[in-house]
Amino acid sequence: MRDDQAGKVAESAPSAARAGAAGGGPRPRRGLSRNDPRQYDDLADEWWDPDGAFAMLHWLARARAELIPPARRPGAVLADLGCGAGLLAPWVADRGYRHVGVDLVRSALVQAATHGVRPVQADVAAVPLADGSADVVAAGEILEHVPGWPRVVAEAARILRPGGLLVLDTLNATALSRLVAVRLAERLPGVPRGIHDPRLFVDARALVRECGRFGITLRVRGVRPAARGLVRWLVRRAVRRAARTGDDPGDAPRIVPTWSAAVLYQGWGVKER
Ligand SMILES: C[S@@+](CC[C@H](N)C(=O)[O-])C[C@H]1O[C@@H](n2cnc3c(N)ncnc32)[C@H](O)[C@@H]1O
Repeated sequence: MRDDQAGKVAESAPSAARAGAAGGGPRPRRGLSRNDPRQYDDLADEWWDPDGAFAMLHWLARARAELIPPARRPGAVLADLGCGAGLLAPWVADRGYRHVGVDLVRSALVQAATHGVRPVQADVAAVPLADGSADVVAAGEILEHVPGWPRVVAEAARILRPGGLLVLDTLNATALSRLVAVRLAERLPGVPRGIHDPRLFVDARALVRECGRFGITLRVRGVRPAARGLVRWLVRRAVRRAARTGDDPGDAPRIVPTWSAAVLYQGWGVKER
C-alpha cells in the first residue's frame, strides 16, 4: 500500500486544514496520520459550513434522518455514535428524541451541544451508556473511522433496547471505494485529505453478519449524491466562492439509493431480541 493511502499522509502543510493550492482540499497538519481524530480539531470551523469540507456529511445526515421514525415513547433516546458537531440534529429535532452524541473530539461536541445534542466525550468502542438505554442508535460515517468496527457494533447492540433501531452509513471495503472515496475524492477541491484510512473501510457482508449475531437483521443499500443536484451544487458553490457571497446554499444535493453498495451504503435494522 502506498504511503498516501495508509499511515502518515505524505503531503502535509505547515498550518492545518487550509485548502491545498495544488488541488485537493484541506490538508492535515504535519505529523498526523490518516484518520487521526485531531484532524477534526483542525477542521472545526468547517463543520457547519454547508459549502465546507464536511458538506457531504450534511447531505448524509439528512438521508440518515429519513430512516429514523418519530419517537414511540416520551423520553426516547437517540444515541448518535461519532456525532461530530451534531449535523444530524436539525433533521431529527422534531422527532421527539433526547439526542445524545458520543464523540472523542471535544471541539466537535461543543458545537453539537449548541444544536441541542447532549454531549458525551467517549470512544465509541466503549460507550458510557447503560445496556438497553437507546431507542435508536445512529452510527453515521463512524464505522470506517475506528480500528475494529465489530467492537462498535457490539456496543451499539448493547445499548439498544429490544425493538430499537440501528441506522448507519459507511464506506465499503472494496477497491472501488478506495479509488472513489480516497484517491479521487481527495483530489477534489474542498475534500479534506487524510481524513480516511482505507484500511478501516467496512465490508458490507461482514457488517450484516456481525449485526445478525446481535439479533439485528441489517438491510443494506448503496447510496450516492443525486448527479444533477451534485453538479448544480458544485457550480453554484464555485460561483458563491468566486463572488465571496454568503448566500444560503439551499441547493444541497439529495442522497439517493443506487444499485451498488460497493462504495457508500446505508444500513438499518431493528434489534429483535
Ligand atoms: C466523519 S465524522 C462523522 C460525524 C457525524 N456522524 C456526521 O455524520 O456528521 C467522524 C466522527 O467520528 C469521531 N470519531 C472518530 N473515531 C472515534 C472514536 N473512536 N470514538 C468516538 N468518536 C470517534 C470523529 O471525532 C468525528 O467527529
